[in-house]
Amino acid sequence: MAWLITGGAGYIGAHVVQETLASGRDVIVLDDLSTGLKSRFPSDVPLIHTNVTNADAVFSAFEDYSIDGVLHLAARKQVGESVERPIYYWEENVIGFFNVLTAMQAHQVKNLVFSSSAAVYGEPDNALDTLIFEDDLCQPINPYGATKLAGETLSQALTKSDGFKVAALRYFNVAGAANPMLGDPFILNLIPIVLDAITNGRQPLVFGSDYPTSDGTCIRDYIHVQDLAQAHVAAMDLVEKSDSSFVPINIGTGKGSTVLEVIDVIQEVTGIEIKPEITPRRAGDPAALVADTSRAKVTLNWSSHYTLHDMISSAWEAWQIRPVQDN
Ligand code: UFG
Repeated sequence: MAWLITGGAGYIGAHVVQETLASGRDVIVLDDLSTGLKSRFPSDVPLIHTNVTNADAVFSAFEDYSIDGVLHLAARKQVGESVERPIYYWEENVIGFFNVLTAMQAHQVKNLVFSSSAAVYGEPDNALDTLIFEDDLCQPINPYGATKLAGETLSQALTKSDGFKVAALRYFNVAGAANPMLGDPFILNLIPIVLDAITNGRQPLVFGSDYPTSDGTCIRDYIHVQDLAQAHVAAMDLVEKSDSSFVPINIGTGKGSTVLEVIDVIQEVTGIEIKPEITPRRAGDPAALVADTSRAKVTLNWSSHYTLHDMISSAWEAWQIRPVQDN
């Protein structure tokens, strides 16, 4: 079986490539290398160097290779940027995915694992008292989440029209690295932001300490990228043996951590004293977002193994040898 992995040169994508190869499948990577690195995956894995918005190049990939399924990870993923540049996000995330789906339809490729996000849920009312279920209302509050929900909607429609078999993995807060070469090189999320601050002699900012949580800071469900990558293999297994179906699946640990708890673990792992500065809330941050993971356990026979400490210590190791962009 050969799987096309769009976005396979990125931080998450490279982990998914590694696990897919380990599962015995062949891999073809399609990536524009705008945020990805060629050095992140083995040199004998073919790379189609293009952006998913290039419909002709995407179509050609299906002509040139015998593809049995697609793991679609290629996307823009910065919530704040999506608010500033909604058209860009719809173009990259929705038109890009549309091109992939069109090429799949034309080539009768029906196996699909789609990278979705907990951002589809928006700001759930009851998130403080309960875990988030896949059947909860999806009401994204930013263009990023809206593009992911649009991708789910279109791929779900193709299960009815064309017999597609789709697992939409709703990632929670992804962190850590399988090995130091595969760390997240960008400073966009809490753990890299804190590592960047403390290694440059600054104190990290905590966005709000007046949430109704144990210490007043926001709760998130942090998931190790290696666990996440293994969930993709379980999802490939699922769609390969399924009949036409659309299954959204939360990929998290089911355990929440507050911002201050994360910072405490960073202090413990790095040995650097941290005195975070509390600032006002950041707009659009829900107080808590923690996955109910029972569907992942039942449908994928998957659950997470790594702890927050594992995520932070692997992120810290990777941080200290961050690779230089080579493309
Ligand atoms: N935070 C701080 N200070 C910072 C950065 C973040 O206090 O300098 C807080 C945020 O307010 C939030 C938590 O740390 O409470 C995590 O923030 P991130 O920006 O790392 O992540 P988000 O939860 O906002 O969003 C992430 C991904 C999204 C994805 C979402 C799913 O970036 O793409 O998780 O839960 F949709």
